[in-house]
Amino acid sequence: MPGLLLGDEAPNFEADTTQGKIRFHDFLGDSWGILFSHPRDFTPVCTTELGRAAKLAPEFAKRNVKMIALSIDNVNDHLSWSKDINAYNNDEPSEKLPFPIIADSKRELAIKLGMLDPDERDKDGMPLTARVVFVFGPDKKLKLSILYPATTGRNFDEILRVVDSLQLTAYKKVATPVDWKPGDSVMVIPSLADEEAKKLFPEGIFTKELPSGKKYLRYTPQPNP
Ligand code: BEZ
Repeated sequence: MPGLLLGDEAPNFEADTTQGKIRFHDFLGDSWGILFSHPRDFTPVCTTELGRAAKLAPEFAKRNVKMIALSIDNVNDHLSWSKDINAYNNDEPSEKLPFPIIADSKRELAIKLGMLDPDERDKDGMPLTARVVFVFGPDKKLKLSILYPATTGRNFDEILRVVDSLQLTAYKKVATPVDWKPGDSVMVIPSLADEEAKKLFPEGIFTKELPSGKKYLRYTPQPNP
């Protein structure tokens, strides 16, 4: 069964990209990584997504996340499309984007990583790539996978929010509740006993009373990373 599940190690594939040949593990190094796939070059939604991703590159860099895109066309198309993406951003229409785009014209990687959208096909009837978001940790294991169909563009503010949650919860024994934003209170994870939680979170724990009498809704201010 192709595809990646949470906790799986990123495959160490070799690929041609707009910034030369890469080996994925070398590309990631010790950083976090985000791999986002696109149905096709020169398509409208993808152009807006890559434009937004380019604008947000400093935010990903601040979080030590290396960005890489994938689309099922070749490097020359990617470079030519990059000019359109920069122009869409009202920037100089150069071939340079702040992240590489993987060339996958034979769809080999898209198949291996489970990225195809069976409902969206090109003029030859071949399936296009869905909009996958994979976030890898510094251990190269998959920490997050989101899969959108080709017809729905992603929300990159949400992706940054998720990265903030992933990075916080990777190092602290907390979980982030619904609609959490950086700076909001977080939840103490259920497996942590009250006594240990008190030691770990000296800023205090607020437990909301519930009809069940069970004391599992435990909030604490967001700890510093
Ligand atoms: C787009 O990027 O605009 C797109 C690509 C494939 C199907 C639908 C939309």
